[in-house]
Amino acid sequence: MSAPKIKFDLQIKYGSEYGPDEERAVLEVLRQGAPTSGEACIQFEKEFAAYCGTAHARAVSNGTAALFLSLVGLGIKPGDRILTTPMTWIATAAAGVTLGAEVDFVDIDPETCNLDARQLEAKITPNTKAILPVHLYGQCCDMDAILAIAQRHGVAVVEDACHAVGAEYKGRKAGSMGATGCFSFHEQKNISTLGEGGMVVTNDPAVFERIALYRSHCTRVYGSSTKYCSLDETRFPMGQRFWWQDFDDCGYNFRLTDVQGAVGSVQLRKLDALNQRRIDNAAYISAGLRDVPGITLPTVRPGGKHVFHLYPIQIDPAQFGRTKDDFIYAMLHERGVKVGTHYTPLHYTTAFQNRGFRKGQFPVAEAVAERLVTLPINPRQPREALDHLIASVRSLRRG
Ligand SMILES: Cc1ncc(COP(=O)(O)O)c(C=O)c1O
Repeated sequence: MSAPKIKFDLQIKYGSEYGPDEERAVLEVLRQGAPTSGEACIQFEKEFAAYCGTAHARAVSNGTAALFLSLVGLGIKPGDRILTTPMTWIATAAAGVTLGAEVDFVDIDPETCNLDARQLEAKITPNTKAILPVHLYGQCCDMDAILAIAQRHGVAVVEDACHAVGAEYKGRKAGSMGATGCFSFHEQKNISTLGEGGMVVTNDPAVFERIALYRSHCTRVYGSSTKYCSLDETRFPMGQRFWWQDFDDCGYNFRLTDVQGAVGSVQLRKLDALNQRRIDNAAYISAGLRDVPGITLPTVRPGGKHVFHLYPIQIDPAQFGRTKDDFIYAMLHERGVKVGTHYTPLHYTTAFQNRGFRKGQFPVAEAVAERLVTLPINPRQPREALDHLIASVRSLRRG
């Protein structure tokens, strides 16, 4: 059976939207020669740091780079141990693995699907150097508990806020509470910088300096107009005032282009309004599905701002009359709605099976994964799209 044609886009694709302001910003930077990590990026960084309430922000090529550079900035090295959740995109855990760290998982809270802070402390060993809580679906983790445990054990907290730009926890912005906060501006995220992009924020000047250096080959330029690093002239015995380049270490190229930075500034100005549309859409979907037996709606904890990057539901086959897989298939083929499942627990994947993980180790994540479906929610959706989504879910219940 081919999927029925519907008028609107009910896919988990394109988390933001662009308009004439983004078009103007692109053209302006294009006409200036479209540089990389120049004035437009620096402006975006300043605005982003101010928005989050942090001292520093550095624009990077994507959220993966933000996570990786955070660990580099904190000096994570082979053999160090890192804790995160199995219910995340692989980038969170891969940041540690690719640096040679040992990554372990902490099981999740079945209601929010975030890392369960109650299970965290038992996982900390003397080698544990960083905890990476992920603010999944746009809702912050239990940060008071996580930060208290981290402080007790002298462990750094790197917030994966890739789903949670603009989210809040007790009045604090996602990303601003840990040693660093990491953001993604991938095409599906709540704001985007032309399909890819990212940001790291921090209040720690030493961590920031390392992040800035390693983002761009650890280069310090003497005598040029570089904005990022200044050099102590005495390091160069020649003392001449000519252009000279040194490299503190071997680093990476994780820079963002100025066209993207300029678009980022425009998107940031729209962020709160875009998030509000997601919050309103989530409330509308919840009202439409509240009475459907066998469906658990997302839990929103009090005291925070959940920005609904995704809208997760859990399906109980006994009461709904279908398994999750059956539901996903029927939504696509009978109703033309592409739903997702975020995520397959990482310890099921080949990458982590090959690192010794086995089914059975994280029973809560495993039980949730059996039932977890993520519904498309984004600010582009008109009310008719949401009505179709709600009617589709309701129509598929058997019983
Ligand atoms: C939770 C989480 N962390 C990290 C990332 C990595 O971000 P990027 O795709 O920009 O590298 C993503 C991207 O989907 C994500 O969802």
